[in-house]
Amino acid sequence: MAAKKPVRAPLDRCINVSEVEDLARRKMKRAGYDYYAGGSEDERTLEGNRTAFSAVFLRPRVLVDVSRIDPSTTALGAAVSTPILLAPAALQKIAHPDGELATVRAAVRGRAEVYVDGGVRRGTDAMKSLALGARAAFIGRPYLWGLAAGGEKGVSRVLTLLREEFELAMTLCGTPTVVAIKRSLVAEG
Ligand SMILES: Cc1cc2nc3c(=O)[nH]c(=O)nc-3n(C[C@H](O)[C@H](O)[C@H](O)COP(=O)(O)O)c2cc1C
Repeated sequence: MAAKKPVRAPLDRCINVSEVEDLARRKMKRAGYDYYAGGSEDERTLEGNRTAFSAVFLRPRVLVDVSRIDPSTTALGAAVSTPILLAPAALQKIAHPDGELATVRAAVRGRAEVYVDGGVRRGTDAMKSLALGARAAFIGRPYLWGLAAGGEKGVSRVLTLLREEFELAMTLCGTPTVVAIKRSLVAEG
């Protein structure tokens, strides 16, 4: 009998935060999803945060040795494995019965810790934040989507996806270390 192909869990099939959000939307009650996804009043700041990132472009660089990428740095005086950190968010049990506990467990393992806060959905957004002078970038909704999609595993998946995207951006920008990320890497449109 032919060996059965292992079926990958929906969370493992997600290749970016937007897909984790889709999964979270399907799992959450409508009111809970709307509370997480919504912004205040006309939601202009919410939209503005995303628009601000799309107006910044990263310059690729070649002829740099990027065979070893090290995304570790320090933030708020602590060593962190990546400059993508979890921002505080209330009412996490709306996403998953384990709530804050699952997030802390995943966060400690992932050693996550930002100074830019709002609209970060891609590793390249974190890269742009650092190039523009931030020490690190906080994420809010992305990990809440992960929590709703799969509890502790979901939060870990989001951290892994963003970390991988950030490392790819470091490779393409020719910056093997965080200290090498400089303002000259960005062009604003
Ligand atoms: C559902 C939800 C609850 C939040 N609760 C808090 C909170 O209790 N305290 C706080 O300082 N910030 C809170 N925030 C703001 C986040 O810390 C963070 O600044 C914001 O989510 C970052 O934007 P992003 O979601 O686009 O990444 C909350 C955000 C969301 C989406």
